[in-house]
Amino acid sequence: MRLTRETARDFVLSRVGHEFAQDPYPDFATLREHAPLCRQPDGSVVVSRYDDVRTVLTDAERFSSDKRVDFRPKFGNSPLYEHHTTSLVFNDPPYHTRVRKLLQPFFAVQTLRGMERSVSRMVDELLDRAADRRTIDIVSEFAVAIPLNLVGDLLGVPRGEREPLRRWAGLILGGLEPVRTPEQLSAGNRAVEEFKAYLRELIAYKRAHPPDDAGIDILWTLIQAADAGDGLTELEIIHNSIFMLNAGHDTTTSLIANGTDLLLRHPAQLERLKAEPALLKTAVEEMLRYESPLQIGNRRSRVDATIQGETLPAGTFFHVAIAAANRDPRQFSDPEAFDVGREPNKHVAFGHGIHFCAGNAVARMEAQVAFAKLIERFPRLRRAGPTVRPDRSRFRVVDELRVELLA
Ligand code: HEM
Repeated sequence: MRLTRETARDFVLSRVGHEFAQDPYPDFATLREHAPLCRQPDGSVVVSRYDDVRTVLTDAERFSSDKRVDFRPKFGNSPLYEHHTTSLVFNDPPYHTRVRKLLQPFFAVQTLRGMERSVSRMVDELLDRAADRRTIDIVSEFAVAIPLNLVGDLLGVPRGEREPLRRWAGLILGGLEPVRTPEQLSAGNRAVEEFKAYLRELIAYKRAHPPDDAGIDILWTLIQAADAGDGLTELEIIHNSIFMLNAGHDTTTSLIANGTDLLLRHPAQLERLKAEPALLKTAVEEMLRYESPLQIGNRRSRVDATIQGETLPAGTFFHVAIAAANRDPRQFSDPEAFDVGREPNKHVAFGHGIHFCAGNAVARMEAQVAFAKLIERFPRLRRAGPTVRPDRSRFRVVDELRVELLA
């Protein structure tokens, strides 16, 4: 049942069901208007207005990303616990700063150019294959392969060994959903163990056979930095590499899949984009705003904090509803309209502050290349089936979307 003005304060994120997972936006709108600071039975709060979301994301001094306290009861002493509490995104300075600095060179403009050539080739290959089939699932036959291969390149995972990466990423991230089953947790734990074992072998192989041209191989660079004594432990390298795959892969797949769904749901916007390809950049920003791949982030306050006039004690856990903020009418004019030319568009789909998505330029580039080529080659793209979504609320995922590719 949808939230109303009267029931908005009773919203419980850990109990949301099918209706919310499929389309959270009506309830986000009600929360934003009638319970912008929504207290949860476990003492945590949901914030949904743009200004509050930005404040919590930006102020790393007052709002911590360290998840050791939160993940202990959730994951116990498990592989998922070890993974999530070692990745940079769930840590504060100084560890966060140290890892972020080591990763920074991989996201420089120069490196991005090399990646763009590889993404362009990959998209051409996928569209060649798709052209023969005419009707394809845009998720499994297009959107998945682009970021998977890019992150595979980034980590220096050989092409023939990339198949299990997607499954591992899905299972590990599934453990972060507010609603999850014991089976999901044990599958997530198994996935972390399998992934760790694989990366240990890969690291040993790279040590024995150093790559001639490290190129954009993050894993190899981190190993060398560790061996030189100024880097991370092997376990830290492994968990940050796993995180890189999870961060870079599922979210970008969702961006491309949700973007296709949006263009098909808004044919006038698709026509506009075809007529004005220069709108591609703003169109991708609008896809990120309208269907944010990461819908909800988290922080814990270190000090008493006042939000919406209410003072919350230090230690309060915050659910930061990025997807709700991105449709806040206080920030965006006509926020429920999907407008490929929207400007300005200061969405928070990539977060904000010190944890601002390190791979934002990579994700933007991948989506721009994918949509430029898809639309140019198949301008009469048509829907051939419904947009099938799993019941997940932290991530905005598409499982299947069949499209007919007409030139
Ligand atoms: C559409 C695609 C993507 C979206 C929507 C997205 C979203 C986000 C968000 C919201 C955060 C901040 C989380 C927080 O503050 O708690 C984040 C962090 C991060 N993302 Fe992305 N991301 C995307 C693609 C990528 C890609 C392609 C990569 C790398 C190849 C990547 C690497 C990272 C890393 C390393 C962090 C952690 C940054 C830090 O803690 O300093 N992301 N991402």
